[in-house]
Amino acid sequence: MKILVTGGAGFVGSHLVDALLERGHEVRVLDNLDPQVHGDSGQPPAHLSPEAELEIGDVRDREAVARALEGVEAVFHQAAAVGVGQSMYEIERYVAANSLGAAVLLEEILARRDRIRRLVVASSMSIYGEGAYRDRQGQRVYPPLRTEVALAARRFELEDAEGAPLEPLPTPEEKPLHPTSVYAVTKRDHEELFLAVGAAYGIPTVGLRYFNIYGPRQALSNPYTGVMAIFSARLLNGRPPLVFEDGLQTRDFVHVSDIVQANLLALERDHAAGRVYNVGTGRPTSIAEVARRLAGHLAPEVEPEITERYRAGDIRHCYADISRIRQELGYAPRVSLEDGIEDLLGWISTQSAEDRVEQARAELEKRGLAR
Ligand code: UD1
Repeated sequence: MKILVTGGAGFVGSHLVDALLERGHEVRVLDNLDPQVHGDSGQPPAHLSPEAELEIGDVRDREAVARALEGVEAVFHQAAAVGVGQSMYEIERYVAANSLGAAVLLEEILARRDRIRRLVVASSMSIYGEGAYRDRQGQRVYPPLRTEVALAARRFELEDAEGAPLEPLPTPEEKPLHPTSVYAVTKRDHEELFLAVGAAYGIPTVGLRYFNIYGPRQALSNPYTGVMAIFSARLLNGRPPLVFEDGLQTRDFVHVSDIVQANLLALERDHAAGRVYNVGTGRPTSIAEVARRLAGHLAPEVEPEITERYRAGDIRHCYADISRIRQELGYAPRVSLEDGIEDLLGWISTQSAEDRVEQARAELEKRGLAR
């Protein structure tokens, strides 16, 4: 097939491009080479396969999108502005790049819908807000974010109305959506716009809700990216990772190759059409453990700093219930955290990273978004 990957020069996109090429597809990339991710050179990253055809342009640029879609039979929409904290003050930029970008892309797809056989859109666990929990009665509950009062008192775990602790559970796709950042709102837009338009026009469309992705090619110097890249950039510069809260908050860290696996299944399995799937490992890992593992490899003399500080909108626990994608598509995560971190570190050892974390943190503090 001839396939378009938007954001194909990025972290996830470029790995997907490699896998599609390996399967014999013809691949085109549409990417704006955002300087926050790719630096100021305007050049595509070295890891982007030369076998893919590159169209440099923004998803909001109708002409660029039209050129990118020429002859295309399937589209993976991976392009997005991805800084959660930054999205809380650059609201217009995030809504424009993500929500409006999806709108332009979809209109141009519709203009060529007779040829297009599949759409796969990158959604995000961020649209859930807090994960699923079990209360004292054994009932599954979907609590809202922790209150400012609880956080200020450093009561970091979720509690019921009487102050009894809630126990984290895997989060299923049925959980009501409760995005708590501008980024998350635009990711819900991505998912819902693609699924609604796909269903209305009969184009088989799949939404993949990515959990916390890590692996080689993650933009280390981008302080708005995920925690593994941020901690690594700190450690490479001899500084301690700053662990928020008490470090016992958990996430589901999924290696980028498993994300690629899910995308290939979403392309190839007929009954994926019209469905959304969690893509994670189904296992929670604490942030303190991530900090310890990375420090142990990158700078054993450096102790991660548990700050007890917190960010507005941060959730406490969320890890994927992967039963649906397992049963319906035959997905199974293949990379353990141990192997995955080793792979990440192998790549990091070839990189230098600028640590811009303090500036990013100052931007949040200035606006009362981190305390
Ligand atoms: C968010 C998004 C997710 C997105 C990811 C990376 C939500 C709920 N999810 O995830 O869709 O893919 O950002 O852009 O918005 N932490 C530290 N120290 C740091 C940085 C982070 O302790 O220097 C902690 C955070 O407080 C949090 C955890 O690490 O508890 C994970 O943070 P992060 O990697 O930013 O991702 P999420 O907020 O889970």
